[in-house]
Amino acid sequence: MNHNPIGIFDSGLGGLSVLQQVCKLLPDETILYVADSAHAPYGCKDESFVEQRSRIITEKLLEQGAGVIVIACNTATASIIDQFRQDYGIPFVGVEPGIKPAVQLTQNARVGVLATTATIASERYQQLIQRYAQSIKLYSQACPGLADKVEQGAVAAADTRALLNKYLQPLLQQDIDTLVLGCTHYSFLSDTIREMVNADITLVDTSRAVADQLSRIIGQDENKTISRSPAVHYFTTGSVAATRQAIKTLLELDIHVEPF
Ligand code: DGL
Repeated sequence: MNHNPIGIFDSGLGGLSVLQQVCKLLPDETILYVADSAHAPYGCKDESFVEQRSRIITEKLLEQGAGVIVIACNTATASIIDQFRQDYGIPFVGVEPGIKPAVQLTQNARVGVLATTATIASERYQQLIQRYAQSIKLYSQACPGLADKVEQGAVAAADTRALLNKYLQPLLQQDIDTLVLGCTHYSFLSDTIREMVNADITLVDTSRAVADQLSRIIGQDENKTISRSPAVHYFTTGSVAATRQAIKTLLELDIHVEPF
């Protein structure tokens, strides 16, 4: 058991998809989940804004004793993880679009990625493509407005489907057989996406891999079967009532949320 709490943060509620996987693997831990909902989305902001917000959250999590921090946000990982590993004396686990697994899964060498504008524009994303996707055709689609739909808990609403359709069409026209969900918010759209695309398209979501990596860092056996749940404290920089309601919709959990 890791005696310091695990900090997990995202621009908002997308990181709950990572939290769900972490809860399955690490039942003995205490987890502090921070949704920066007052400042979401990060995906259309510049790097200095994302860095500033991530520092404020990280330093507050450190004050609360966090011994490891999961940046449950592709956008923030892309812009700050290298720097934060140098600046703070604790391990950081990040989330990156699953290009590497997608390249292994694709049968026709055509992969699509849905991600935020900032992730796609980042140097780290270009490096991922350089490193893993040289042998395939990779199509990147920025999705402004999509994370906001998840923040609102509107994962299957008509206007969410319309927005998804707009972003999926250019990828489907390229005959992709593998689709990377390159933003933690989009995990909550996977059922809706499955209804909208051909059944033989494989969706790639890295939240389980992130939880596995966290387990390795804190020395837990990631293969054990678990029936308990860890203690999770939920915090938000936004409206406590709205966050509580959105968590009820997304996770079907009625929980206490505290201001951060
Ligand atoms: N959930 C975040 C990500 O994985 C960011 C979404 C946003 O705030 O734009 O990229």
